Amino acid sequence: MTPHPFDPVTPAELRLAVKVLENAFPGVPLRYKVVDVQEPIKKDVVPYIEAERLCVSLPRKPARLLMALFHRMDTKSFMKALINIDTRALLHAKELPKDVQGPADVDELIDMEERCLKHPAVKAEIEKLNLPPGVTVCTDPWIYGTDDQGETRRLFQFYLYIVDTDNLQHNHYSLPCTISPVFDCMTKELVRIDRLPTGADHSTTPTQPWKPAKAVQYAHDLLEEPLRTDLKPYIVQQPEGPSFSLDGNLVYWQKWRFRVGFNYREGMVLYGVTYDRRNVFYRLAVNEMTVPYGDPRAPYHRKQAFDVGDVGFGSTANQLSLGCDCLGHIKYFDGYRIDSKGNPVLLKNVLCLHEQDNGIQHKHTNYRSQAATVVRNRQLVLQMICTVANYEYIFAWIFDQAGNIELEVRATGILSTMPIDEGVSVPFGTNVAPGVMAAYHQHIFNMRIDPAIDGHNNTVIYQDSVPMPDDPATNPYGVGYVQETTVLKRSTAADLSVPDARVFKIRNDNIINPTSGKPVAYKLHALPSQLMLMHPRSFNRKRAQFATRSIWVTKYHDDELYAAGEFTNQSRASSGVEEWVARDENVENTDVVLWHTFALTHNPRPEDFPVMPMEKISIMLRPDGFFEKNPALDVPQSTQNVNRSSLHVDTKPSERQECSCPTSKL
Ligand code: CU
Repeated sequence: MTPHPFDPVTPAELRLAVKVLENAFPGVPLRYKVVDVQEPIKKDVVPYIEAERLCVSLPRKPARLLMALFHRMDTKSFMKALINIDTRALLHAKELPKDVQGPADVDELIDMEERCLKHPAVKAEIEKLNLPPGVTVCTDPWIYGTDDQGETRRLFQFYLYIVDTDNLQHNHYSLPCTISPVFDCMTKELVRIDRLPTGADHSTTPTQPWKPAKAVQYAHDLLEEPLRTDLKPYIVQQPEGPSFSLDGNLVYWQKWRFRVGFNYREGMVLYGVTYDRRNVFYRLAVNEMTVPYGDPRAPYHRKQAFDVGDVGFGSTANQLSLGCDCLGHIKYFDGYRIDSKGNPVLLKNVLCLHEQDNGIQHKHTNYRSQAATVVRNRQLVLQMICTVANYEYIFAWIFDQAGNIELEVRATGILSTMPIDEGVSVPFGTNVAPGVMAAYHQHIFNMRIDPAIDGHNNTVIYQDSVPMPDDPATNPYGVGYVQETTVLKRSTAADLSVPDARVFKIRNDNIINPTSGKPVAYKLHALPSQLMLMHPRSFNRKRAQFATRSIWVTKYHDDELYAAGEFTNQSRASSGVEEWVARDENVENTDVVLWHTFALTHNPRPEDFPVMPMEKISIMLRPDGFFEKNPALDVPQSTQNVNRSSLHVDTKPSERQECSCPTSKL
């Protein structure tokens, strides 16, 4: 059976694409970077998914296309190709401009890590550390960033750390070194070795012998403190199984239907989201994020990763496992990527799907009779965890029974650390351990919302809650307030406003809700965030224009999926939403895309080290006049008969755990 147009790439398709490319370039050695599904052309796929939604006979499937990024190793040129899998044909293969760098790939990172540590000049520097037995040096290759308009080499900056020779979970981020080599990853040559500043200013010093220091560990096996012993098991049981079912990547849960997509770049993607057979969203994904660092000193000024465009959430997604990453009855989804030689690589269990209880959905007690109506808030969670070197990002799309879809993002993992001299502190970072500083930085995300609110012609509006004019005739007591509506008619950027309680809505002007008498709509519970702090003249800002406004509304065009543009690695300027809104196109009652930029300004705390307790942010897509009344009224009553809670019985004094308060000690 051929895949659904929204299905992730299969290993057979990857092998076929490689064969097509090898036939097209006979005798030319090719080094593969990416082969993945090309997003289907929307006008071709909509009739197909509409026929599915309406349960009528299906038209022809749209052509299955794959996209490939690869280097020709004879000319070293960077190429992009499009392959039709159905016809086994190469549609085109074009050479990309010299200054375009593709994303980092797994094989490249591992290879360059080894080459860096084996390079004689790097080894000579490491020698100067005079390391005692039992420790050695490891390195994290970093995306180079940009500080030179004319740079066209494919560069990586390496940060070095001291690490135990025989301990896999040793926290090397706790022992950063001052040696930072830069390599050209095409020629494999060392470009130079940067020194990291360690004082309060921009100056650097030659490599000094290492003063032995103890790493601050996070792994349980390496902790010196005893583990707490008073935690009782918490077991999630679903004796009759989960309430979801699947047909391939099509998920059925309560009144929701959607398809789970997966690609190397965004990782999980939601397609064709419907509720009770009504269209709600065509496509939802976190499409980009950038992490600029606020340390003004070289080479840290270049620290600006685009974790989606430079590496890929799909490529860095964790293999999830039962009993750890989520609890209960779990369905896992696999993905595939390609390695540098063109072999498919299985990405096992990269997404997980499960239900969870999240407290109460709605409740009312009639205070006279004490009769209560209460339902629990059962949710369906689709989760992905990405490890981007030191950091972890946990993404979850959460569906509930009242028509809400939440995007929850948790940041955890280990801070990116810098060496710092004893007794020194800097105004743009926090000392988190002896000799270790973590610089201030921002995590700036973008969520792409391709809506289909009861159809594909939608309009984005915003509404401010404002006081009515102080008019004795219309507002005699001065208490009235109203919503002021602004319709976004032309493609544009917009800002949030907390003082105005500004809310952005996506509505379908062609369908009126009989209860409200207004167009059906979903609203975006946006996350008011500080936007990019870097100066307009900085490359950091030029490369991430999406990070300068909270809201962008564009007319839908195929191939416009990533807020900072297609190629972000070592980009000099972005080529994304800012260009698309500048077309000044009609976005009223047409196929529109809403892009929401949201961020964490992360000024590290000592408590964020050695591993960061998760920091959680959330965005919600909430029906607003999409339904005629509360859509969760038909969720059954929450009862003890079903939920089987147990009653706590107070323990006898002798069985109680010791209380920390001395006066209450028994
Ligand atoms: Cu952070």
